[in-house]
Amino acid sequence: MEYITIKGGKKLVGSVDISGAKNAAVAIVPAAIAAQGVCIIENLPAIKDVNVLVGALRNLGIDCQFIDTHTLKIDSQNIKSCAITYDQVKDMRASYYLLGALLGRFKHAQVPLPGGCNFGLRPIDLHMKGFEALGAKINIEHGMVTATAEKLTGTNIYLDISSVGATINIMIAAVYAEGVTHIENAAKEPHVVDTANFLNKLGAKIKGAGTDIIRITGVERLHGGEYSIIPDQIEAGTYMIAAAITNGDVQVNHIIPKHMDSLSAKLTEMGCKVIENGDTIRVIGTENLQACNVKTMFYPGFPTDLHPQMSALLSVANGTSLMTEAVFEHRFQYVKELLRLGANIKVEGRVAIIEGKNTLSGAQVTSTDLRAGAALIVAGLAAHGTTSIGNVKYLDRGYERFEEKLTAIGADISRVHIDE
Ligand code: EPZ
Repeated sequence: MEYITIKGGKKLVGSVDISGAKNAAVAIVPAAIAAQGVCIIENLPAIKDVNVLVGALRNLGIDCQFIDTHTLKIDSQNIKSCAITYDQVKDMRASYYLLGALLGRFKHAQVPLPGGCNFGLRPIDLHMKGFEALGAKINIEHGMVTATAEKLTGTNIYLDISSVGATINIMIAAVYAEGVTHIENAAKEPHVVDTANFLNKLGAKIKGAGTDIIRITGVERLHGGEYSIIPDQIEAGTYMIAAAITNGDVQVNHIIPKHMDSLSAKLTEMGCKVIENGDTIRVIGTENLQACNVKTMFYPGFPTDLHPQMSALLSVANGTSLMTEAVFEHRFQYVKELLRLGANIKVEGRVAIIEGKNTLSGAQVTSTDLRAGAALIVAGLAAHGTTSIGNVKYLDRGYERFEEKLTAIGADISRVHIDE
């Protein structure tokens, strides 16, 4: 069993290099299957979800070799199968992108239904609807999704919800569809744009990624190519919030400041100094953090993946804040753990009412999902005394060298392994 322990109360000071975006990586690695040539993907984050995907591709007979920690070479010319087993991908959610990639190129795919997670059912009905609109037959039984098609034909697909996963998955499948596909009410997140840019580098014809309507004109073939993943908006935001909660002074490097606009605006509203300079943002905290109201929205709104971390920060601000979760039906599992650290939060439906107070106190807590775990780390950095966080496996899915990067800017944090 592994725990992360933090002795709180230390100001974070210094600079952090941000890794490649997890949510771009877990789309682009499978999307490389669409290429009939060798792909070199750079700036991959060294995280568990990427390793799980690489294992799954290797099990399909795809040649995947790490050139270095953050660079992967993918050559799918000798692929042997289009069927993924449950055990190969049960530890991650975004295995569903393998469906779009395999269906697009080979017109056949069998991938396990992704498990739910601790903040909702997280259905993939919109993904399936899109594949069927392109001409695929979908069969779901025994926990497996099987998608087959004689051919895929471009069409107009309206997404009832601007789903990131459905947008990306349909886009990947449509690159080989005959004719033109329009995805309407598409998600605009940075990782949607990154995946489109990657596919276009391989010879796809995708226009409009980052807007409400994405147009994909089908092509006969995608060649190989080199591509570098965008920086991780959520990792960067987590360190920016950690700077604020410790009244520190932290610069996050190798980022795209535009991706952080919603958080930068909120931290400024709370009284922090937020200084953008090229590919960096510097956050300088304040003794007098002000409460503010936050509502998560699709990009460019405030990202739901920074909701738990932001609630930890609001727990130590002066005044009452409202955190409204408008993307997932229920993302408040982290609250009961923050209460153990002394936070004062009530949840009414999709709104958390957060009574800020100037101190949290260290305790034993457990992370219930990736970003809930990040929130506990952030809260532990500010809490008086020692905080011990269990279930660190979640953190390893999405944060590269989390303790190492925090230690380098002054945190007193370590990982403890206890034989069960
Ligand atoms: C992606 O999940 C991210 N994961 C999530 O990040 C992120 O929270 C989410 O987008 C929202 O930004 C990856 O990119 C791998 P959605 P995804 O489809 O694509 C509903 C993290 O911590 N919906 O945009 O699964 C859904 O229930 C993770 O990095 C349907 O109803 O999210 C939700 O309410 C957590 N039917 C809303 O849409 C569908 O077919 C948005 O979900 C698909 C989604």
